[in-house]
Amino acid sequence: MLEIKQLKAGYRGIEALKGVDIVVPEGEMVAIIGANGAGKSTLLNCMSGVVRATAGQIRFAGQDITRLPPHVIARAGLLHVPEGRQVLADMTVQENLMLGALARGTRKALYEIDKVVTLFPILAERMQQAAGTLSGGQQQMMAIGRALMGSPRVLLLDEPSLGLSPLLTHQVFDALLKLHRDGLTIVLVEQNARRALAATQRAYVLERGLIAQHGQSQQLLHDPSVIEHYLGTGESALVD
Ligand SMILES: Nc1ncnc2c1ncn2[C@@H]1O[C@H](COP(=O)(O)OP(=O)(O)OP(=O)(O)O)[C@@H](O)[C@H]1O
Ligand SMILES: [Mg+2]
Repeated sequence: MLEIKQLKAGYRGIEALKGVDIVVPEGEMVAIIGANGAGKSTLLNCMSGVVRATAGQIRFAGQDITRLPPHVIARAGLLHVPEGRQVLADMTVQENLMLGALARGTRKALYEIDKVVTLFPILAERMQQAAGTLSGGQQQMMAIGRALMGSPRVLLLDEPSLGLSPLLTHQVFDALLKLHRDGLTIVLVEQNARRALAATQRAYVLERGLIAQHGQSQQLLHDPSVIEHYLGTGESALVD
C-alpha cells in the first residue's frame, strides 16, 4: 500500500532523513519508533506531502506521490493526524469533523459522524463545543475522527499518546486497534515504544534519519538493543 525507497529530506543545513526504506502492506498496522529528533515527524510529513523529499521515492497504492502537493495526497486517501493534533480551536467539534470530509472528494464515505461517535462516544456530548475547549485527549480523538471522515486508505498518526493521561491513551489505542481489525492500514509514530510495539505487527526503528532495525514487533520487544535504547527497565518503562 505504501512503499518508501531511499527517502531523503531535510531542512536548511540539516539532513533529517538520510535514505529511508519502509514498506507498509495493505491492512497492516506498522509502528515507527525512535528518539526525539530521529526524523519520525519528517518522515510522516514527507508521506503526506507537507515536507518535500530531496531524493528517493514514495509510492502509495501503486502511484508515485513523491512530488504531489498535500491536498492531492489527502484526496487520494493518505491521511495524516499530525503531531500536536492541529485542531481548529474556534470551530466546533462538528465543524472540524465536517472539514475532514473534504479530503474524501468523490471517494466513498467510509466513516460518517455516527461511526466516529461510536468509536469515541465522548465526542457526541461535545459536538457543538469549540474544539479548543476540549481536553488534550478529546482533541486527539477528534483529530483522528477528522481524518476518518476523509475515508482514509492509510492513516498516518504522529504521537497520538503525546500528553495524554494513561486512561485516555488506552482509549485512543483501543480505537486504533478496532480500526485496524476493521481492515484499516495504519502507520503509527510513537515515542511510547513499548505500547507501539505491543499494538502492531511490524515496526521500524528510526535513528538519526536512518532505519536502524525493523522486523516483527514481538521480536523487537525482546531485542536486547531495542530494550536498552527504547524500552528501558524499571517502573518508568512499564505500560500502565
Ligand atoms: N521545521 C524544521 N526546521 C528545521 N529543522 C527541523 C524542522 N523540523 C524538524 N527539524 C529537525 O529535523 C530533525 C528531525 O526532526 P523530527 O521532528 O522529524 O523528529 P521526530 O523524530 O519527530 O522528533 P520528536 O520525537 O521530538 O517529535 C531534528 O534534528 C529537528 O531538529
Ligand atoms: Mg515528531
